[in-house]
Amino acid sequence: MKQKQKKREKAELESLLLYHGEEILLSGQMQREKLFIQHGTVSCFDHSVAVAYTSLRLAVWWRIKVDRRSLVRGALLHDYFLYDWHEADDSHRLHGFRHAKKALLNAREDFRLNAKEEDIIVKHMFPLNLSLPRYRESVLVILADKWCALTEILAVFSVVHRVKAIKAKLQKAASRILSTA
Ligand SMILES: [Fe+2]
Ligand SMILES: [Fe+2]
Repeated sequence: MKQKQKKREKAELESLLLYHGEEILLSGQMQREKLFIQHGTVSCFDHSVAVAYTSLRLAVWWRIKVDRRSLVRGALLHDYFLYDWHEADDSHRLHGFRHAKKALLNAREDFRLNAKEEDIIVKHMFPLNLSLPRYRESVLVILADKWCALTEILAVFSVVHRVKAIKAKLQKAASRILSTA
């Protein structure tokens, strides 16, 4: 019974993520994130989906009242720097310190962001970037990002199954959109 309930809760979170994140997830620029490796063998796209899912999960676990839409959108865009940071290039220097700002500038160009979403993106590298997060949503993404990065680097327990399920649902949503266009 508990197992069933857990499954249902996970499916609800996936649907929530798709509902709030669909515009971003289906955009051409976001799809480009699939070309860039983030950690280990995980693409930047999959990492971002994992961080959004984990942020939602933490909010539910800890019963923190959040603006779910901003949480999902900010988390999805937190690494929207749109290059492969493993490639040697002068513009990729000090990636760890600079990419949050770059992600924010790119995201501002492609999406209408609110103050929370901007804060989530630009503060997600705390404490490497020293400015303090302003919203609880930003703190959740900071924690989710560190957790996902660690599991991806160590190639241990991760939310890879959830990411797969979300991508399958996204595929369905995309076909639905294309077939009604
Ligand atoms: Fe990052
Ligand atoms: Fe990240």
